[in-house]
Amino acid sequence: MTRPSRHHVCTACGATAPKWTGRCSACGEWNTLTEQSGPREPRLGGRDVGAHGWRADEGGLRIALGEHPMRPVPLPSVSPDASEPFPTGIDELDRVLSGGLVPGSVTLLGGEPGIGKSTLVLQAVSATADRGGRALIVAAEESAEQVSRRAARLGSVAEAGFLMSTAHLMAAIEAADQVGPRLLVIDSIQAISDPAISSPAGSPTQVRECAQLLAQYAKATGTATILVGHVTKDGALAGPRTLEHLVDTVLSFEGDRHHALRSLIATKHRYGPAGELGLFEMNEDGLTSITDPSAVLLGDRRPDAAGTVAMPVVEGRRPLLVEVQALVTRSHSAAPRRVVQGVSPSRLALLLAILERRCDCHLGSVDVFASTVGGIKVSEPASDLAVALAVLSSITGFPLPPDAVVFGELGLAGEVRQVARPERRLAEAGRLGFRRAIVPEATPDGPPGMHLQRVRSVVEAVALLGWTDLVRHLKAAPSPAA
Ligand code: TYD
Ligand code: MG
Repeated sequence: MTRPSRHHVCTACGATAPKWTGRCSACGEWNTLTEQSGPREPRLGGRDVGAHGWRADEGGLRIALGEHPMRPVPLPSVSPDASEPFPTGIDELDRVLSGGLVPGSVTLLGGEPGIGKSTLVLQAVSATADRGGRALIVAAEESAEQVSRRAARLGSVAEAGFLMSTAHLMAAIEAADQVGPRLLVIDSIQAISDPAISSPAGSPTQVRECAQLLAQYAKATGTATILVGHVTKDGALAGPRTLEHLVDTVLSFEGDRHHALRSLIATKHRYGPAGELGLFEMNEDGLTSITDPSAVLLGDRRPDAAGTVAMPVVEGRRPLLVEVQALVTRSHSAAPRRVVQGVSPSRLALLLAILERRCDCHLGSVDVFASTVGGIKVSEPASDLAVALAVLSSITGFPLPPDAVVFGELGLAGEVRQVARPERRLAEAGRLGFRRAIVPEATPDGPPGMHLQRVRSVVEAVALLGWTDLVRHLKAAPSPAA
């Protein structure tokens, strides 16, 4: 049992502190710490919460001790089978989860409003039910009619799929107890609350404590649980970041709302590698897994246009061909603009600095726009050379050879550095019909028919393309063709 203790809770961010201070050390707000006594575990006000040895009493929520061995056990005697993932039946979701959902695991699915989170979880519930597993979705934001209308649009749901429309945590847990689902979805964690928790619905404390209770429920009952969470514009999960520490897996669902492409990535995953990328297309009948993403991403490519470069990236384990585009124009403001989509702004700034110094090209009075097609986020430095050549191509007005791909990391001295998994990148490029690759010097040979143009520096790459003078003579403004 935990001893009752006194502690302070911040009303702004939900952080707890052992002592009162004038300023919350977590969020920096003043005068927000309020004293609370009792155990730090969430309280449920003396209610019984189900048939799984769960009880809520004076001391808060407890799992009956008998169910949990209190002695250490030899590691080899612990069966790993219990943590075998089960596939949800949605290919790209299973790929990101390295096989599926692990029983008893808690997954946070974050994304901006309208991106398609509710659609994805509804499809996961439906696919799980189709495979004969019971699945329950708790709709805390939408009425049962709204959800069932959406479900009908997405196709029929098998008998094993259940829906509960409630914003009350206890009602949700009771519903889960009745159904005994293999997959439980809470849509959304921000909309669910418990009046026994003494802070307003939607507040960080509510969100965190409800999530904590659901996590305990998931572990105690072996229910794989997905919590849907809204993310604010700057990418932070609304509510305390501590939610990320509390769950086993954090999935981020991203994309441009005006385009059909959606990407799903695990930023944290306790049961497999993080960073694996899943891709979907959103259309009238929901989300479809994209099985050949490179083909889709290059679908509208115009290889003869200046400023565009095809680059093979490796997100997770999968190679992917992504088109990067740059547009360089004369700036009309004192502080020239650098606008990015899918490319890191600080990385672009660094690349422009390298170009300025090493290629003698003056970028102080031009605006630079750089984006990846479909808004696919490319975080690996292996994309450096491609982004740099896209910028230079826009400046010179000359396109790269239409059958060329580019990869390589750029060092501060303008040197082109080796990157991981060159064979996979070249193989994917070859599969899609590319026959030429501008790559770091140490790159091993690619597939038959692929001609490698190995370069040691960005200056060499520029010379190879015959752009040296064009780039150097650009003093204040890019050529009209750019
Ligand atoms: P939704 O899943 O409600 O987003 P979230 O839960 O992340 O807020 O989906 C939002 C958008 O998706 C909505 O604008 C309509 C669109 N949509 C489709 O294009 N096709 C579909 O089949 C469905 C269900 C939604
Ligand atoms: Mg929703």
